[in-house]
Amino acid sequence: MDSEVIFADTVERLRAARHVVIFTGAGISAESGIATFRDHLTGLWSQYDPQRLATPAAFIRDPRLVWGWYSWRRTLVGKAQPNDAHLAVVTLTQCLPHVTVITQNVDDLHERAGCNEVIHLHGNLARARCFECNRPYLGVLPVSAEPDGAPQDPPRCNHCDGRIRPDVVWFDEALPEEDVMLAFRAACDCDVLLSIGTSGSVYPAAHIPELASEQGAWLVHINIESTGASSDKTLVGPASLWLPKLVEALA
Ligand code: OAD
Repeated sequence: MDSEVIFADTVERLRAARHVVIFTGAGISAESGIATFRDHLTGLWSQYDPQRLATPAAFIRDPRLVWGWYSWRRTLVGKAQPNDAHLAVVTLTQCLPHVTVITQNVDDLHERAGCNEVIHLHGNLARARCFECNRPYLGVLPVSAEPDGAPQDPPRCNHCDGRIRPDVVWFDEALPEEDVMLAFRAACDCDVLLSIGTSGSVYPAAHIPELASEQGAWLVHINIESTGASSDKTLVGPASLWLPKLVEALA
């Protein structure tokens, strides 16, 4: 289906919607200068091996390498600014009756744009916790200006002296239970789901749009690439183009 037709139908669905879910992935932050994961040349997982950096086993093997890499990513996120897509999401939360924002991103650009409530399915780089006892770490988190992150000693837990790790979900780990429950509940309840800037390749997060669609919600993807089955409805182009356009049409 042509993007302009999908756009017009989506505006009508949003006007009539009781509950809208906005589900975001790395693509929404790409225009803020934060690398996605799977884009061929620039994606993080095309340059770095997640098995060396993003698993509990990797942290046990080389905590300095993993901590340094995440400190570097935290630095990049700290320097980035929310873009027009993040700002448009905030306006949608204000102009529609009920919006649930669910993100797979570990940056805080939705919050810094002004979103008060965001479900973070994959954790948040701005938080850290003990690898051993799980207690949150309340100290200042280091940054690293070294390109790609030089190895850095993780701080120690005040309670058990365990190593502090980033509070993000790694491969081989479960998602935060409460957040998953809220997200799945919202997916079952919504009548429109906007799936923005995600390849939809990581489960269980990727079940969320599928579930909404199975329950009869209007599912629209916003992506620079036309992904998935030909029956998928995709607004092809950057999120910073389509989201402000939706806001404008709803005003
Ligand atoms: P991916 O890197 O897999 O996908 C990013 C998607 O964004 C791709 O489909 C791009 O085409 C699209 N995209 C890029 N720029 C865009 C733009 N300006 N506007 C709209 N779309 C754009 O990232 P995710 O789907 O978020 O997990 O990846 C899911 C998870 O895989 C991440 O949360 C992370 C990773 O491993 C964890 O950290 C646990």
